[in-house]
Amino acid sequence: MKIVTVIGARPQFIKAAAVSRIFRDQYSGDIDEIIVHTGQHFDSNMSEVFFNELDIPQPKYNLEVCGGTHGTMTGRMLETVEKVLLDELPDWVLVYGDTNSTLAGALAAVKLCIPVAHVEAGLRSFNMAMPEEINRIVTDRVSNMLFCPTELAVSNLQVEGVTKGVWNVGDVMYDVALFYKDRAINKSNVLQTCNLQKGEYVLVTCHRAENTDNKSRLKEILMSFGEIAKERQVVLPLHPRAKKLIAEYGYAGMMDNLIVTEPLAFMDMIALEQGAGAILTDSGGVQKEAFFYGVPCITMRDETEWGETVDLGWNQLVGAKFETIYQAYLDLEHSDRRIKGVYPYGKGTASQQIIQKLETY
Ligand code: UD1
Repeated sequence: MKIVTVIGARPQFIKAAAVSRIFRDQYSGDIDEIIVHTGQHFDSNMSEVFFNELDIPQPKYNLEVCGGTHGTMTGRMLETVEKVLLDELPDWVLVYGDTNSTLAGALAAVKLCIPVAHVEAGLRSFNMAMPEEINRIVTDRVSNMLFCPTELAVSNLQVEGVTKGVWNVGDVMYDVALFYKDRAINKSNVLQTCNLQKGEYVLVTCHRAENTDNKSRLKEILMSFGEIAKERQVVLPLHPRAKKLIAEYGYAGMMDNLIVTEPLAFMDMIALEQGAGAILTDSGGVQKEAFFYGVPCITMRDETEWGETVDLGWNQLVGAKFETIYQAYLDLEHSDRRIKGVYPYGKGTASQQIIQKLETY
């Protein structure tokens, strides 16, 4: 069986690492995986470092499509991915998540009548202003195999009338979190390098368009980081888009009391997450990693695709107002943080199940 995997952004590299490892370790000779990197994330610390550290096979194709409007980027990807598919004629195209790379991979394949498998299917924020929401809905609609991370994702698809080829396999990010949990602690020196004590610092991230493109939201978020930094060390691995916009808005001085780093390699990031007293984020992946590692989390968004983390009492959804964010942080000291109910993200075997299902389709 020949599979073309189309990826292009940081969280996709991390998810694909889990599935690619099983292809290589357990199915080599039976399944040939060809990796296509669209080029959406291209900085070495947003891309190459993940291929090296997570042992992802080098892409056979790098399409070098980056920047531009959503339409330009998706259109150029569609054209270039189609050429690759015509050359390779795979049995499956495998796509992850909800980026423009996901949408382009899925559309190029379905128009050539090549079956599409979507990992992280069925997630919804119900906010059509998010480009990711559009990408998710369209990708799910044209996919033949829909690998959902949770029951909630399965029911989201049911509501839209999508029931064929739908599987709850658990979350590939949970596979990754388990696999690298101790490896990261053993390998990373990030706590020493940043002079941090376990449990004593707060880890923060902010990169989403809804927060960074909006000047006043970004200001309120940075104000809350600054306020927390009066009491605790606050570490901010800064995403390139946030860095650019913070400079443009003249907000760089608001980060003076924070420990600001370049985007971190994955081992450093999950070592930092595991050692943090609390996490404040707008990242999908970081919210869940906080949950997996039992670190209380505050999410600076108006909605989340990962509602289970909130329902189970581990994550607070607070939007982007200074008072609300800071109050949520103060409330953490008193909150009851035991995971209540059934663990929602599977058993850490999502990657294995995905490949078995593709093989037996
Ligand atoms: C979300 C989207 C994703 C999209 C991305 C765009 C959802 C559910 N997912 O992902 O499809 O591609 O936005 O940016 O909406 N990390 C590091 N180093 C760092 C910071 C983070 O290794 O310095 C790791 C985290 O541990 C985590 C992953 O990167 O595993 C998170 O990536 P992030 O860029 O925050 O994207 P998401 O919000 O998860």
